[in-house]
Amino acid sequence: MNGEKRKLLINDYCDAVGDLLASDIVQQMRQYPHHRTVSTFWHSVYVSYLTYRLCGRLRLSQREAARAALLHDFYLYNWYLEKHAEYHIWYHPKEAVKNAELYFEPLTAKQKNMILSHMWPLFVEPPKSKEAYVLTLADKIAATKDLIGLSGTFTDMYAQIEKELKRRGAFENRS
Ligand SMILES: [Fe+2]
Ligand SMILES: [Fe+2]
Repeated sequence: MNGEKRKLLINDYCDAVGDLLASDIVQQMRQYPHHRTVSTFWHSVYVSYLTYRLCGRLRLSQREAARAALLHDFYLYNWYLEKHAEYHIWYHPKEAVKNAELYFEPLTAKQKNMILSHMWPLFVEPPKSKEAYVLTLADKIAATKDLIGLSGTFTDMYAQIEKELKRRGAFENRS
C-alpha cells in the first residue's frame, strides 16, 4: 500500500473508531492479559482494524462493524485471576455487551449480535450478519497471531493510528 493510501486508511479508521479508541476506559484494557502476554487492548484493536479492512473489501458496514469489533472483548477483568459463575468463554461476550452500553452509546441489533456471537462456533448465539461472520474470522486470525507471537506485526500500523489520534487532540489528559 502506498503512503497516500495508507494515510487515507488511517484517517478513515480514526474517523470510525477514534472516540472509542482514545477513551480512558478502552485504554484500560491495556492492563488485562488476554492471550498470555498479549493484552485485551492490543488484541481488540487488531481485531477491529482487520474487521474494518475486510468489511471495506466486502462493501459491508465498516464503521458499525469496526466499533463492535473494538468492543467485542470489552469485559474489563483479568480472566486468569477473576472467576465467574459461568466459564469465561461463555460469560465474557455478555459482559462486553453490558459494558459497551454502559460506557458508550446503545449498540445496534447487528453490533449486539456481532459481540455475542464472536466465539462462534463455540458459543450458542449464531452470527446473523455478514459483519458478524467477518468478526469471527478476524478474531480467529488475531487470536492465532497472539498465540504464536506474531501480534507485533501490527505495531507500526498502530503507532500511526495513535499518532493521528494525538494530532486530533486525543490523549491530552493522559498522564
Ligand atoms: Fe472473546
Ligand atoms: Fe477476541
